[in-house]
Amino acid sequence: MGDSRAIGIFDSGVGGLTVVRAVMERLPWESIIYFGDTARVPYGIKSRETITEYALQITDFLLQKNVKLLIIACNTMAAVAYPAIKLRSPTPVLDVIDAGARLAVAKTVSGRIGVIGTPATINSNAYARSIHRYRTESFVFSQSCPLFVPLVEEGWFNHPITRAVAQEYLQPLLTESIDSLVLGCTHYPLLKPLLREVIGGSIHLIDSAEAMAEIAANILRLENLAVTESSSPDYEFFVTDIPHRFQTIGEYALGRSMTNVKMAKI
Ligand code: DGL
Repeated sequence: MGDSRAIGIFDSGVGGLTVVRAVMERLPWESIIYFGDTARVPYGIKSRETITEYALQITDFLLQKNVKLLIIACNTMAAVAYPAIKLRSPTPVLDVIDAGARLAVAKTVSGRIGVIGTPATINSNAYARSIHRYRTESFVFSQSCPLFVPLVEEGWFNHPITRAVAQEYLQPLLTESIDSLVLGCTHYPLLKPLLREVIGGSIHLIDSAEAMAEIAANILRLENLAVTESSSPDYEFFVTDIPHRFQTIGEYALGRSMTNVKMAKI
């Protein structure tokens, strides 16, 4: 039987669904409760205090649903509020920044790593700290990309305006001879094909969502929290505004249809 409680995964909007997709593929028998704060997205341009307050409200919501593991599928909340969330939660807490940093260090050869993220994530310096923890001799070049989240929430994954914005943001990083680029925001994997075009074929694109699924699988096993392989999972999605719109873009992000999208008050 194992532990049939759900895994709680959260983000400010649709971005965290890139993590949900990876977790569904890696752990297909685990139930998931997702929370996307669509009424208040984007978080990345807000103050540390506000981001922490919102992150704790979502944490409380998911803990009340009795989740067995919390995954912060939002780099912005992880960068700013991880210690506060960890303090609040009796269940294990995983964050995408640690996952992304580990994967970047595993992939880089030259140690020259670019990181793109929201202003809050980049200003926190959390990626540089985390990458240096795993590899001291590395050079981290960061760039905040505040327009990417609204463009993704708009569904403009392959739009000429998004391409022009990406060229503008990435140019400074490309002059630094990076060999890896961390997608330091869970919305950005939805721009992967476009970003690949802009940066060319030779730079590793580091997607923390994939790394996170592997780390989640390990922790469930180590902590004896995994469900047995024969059980059938439940998926529930909570949002704070316009579930229909979330569903349209969310289905693209997940690569499957979504049922069970509900409005939540926190
Ligand atoms: N998906 C969130 C992240 O990973 C960002 C979003 C936001 O600005 O709300 O940082």
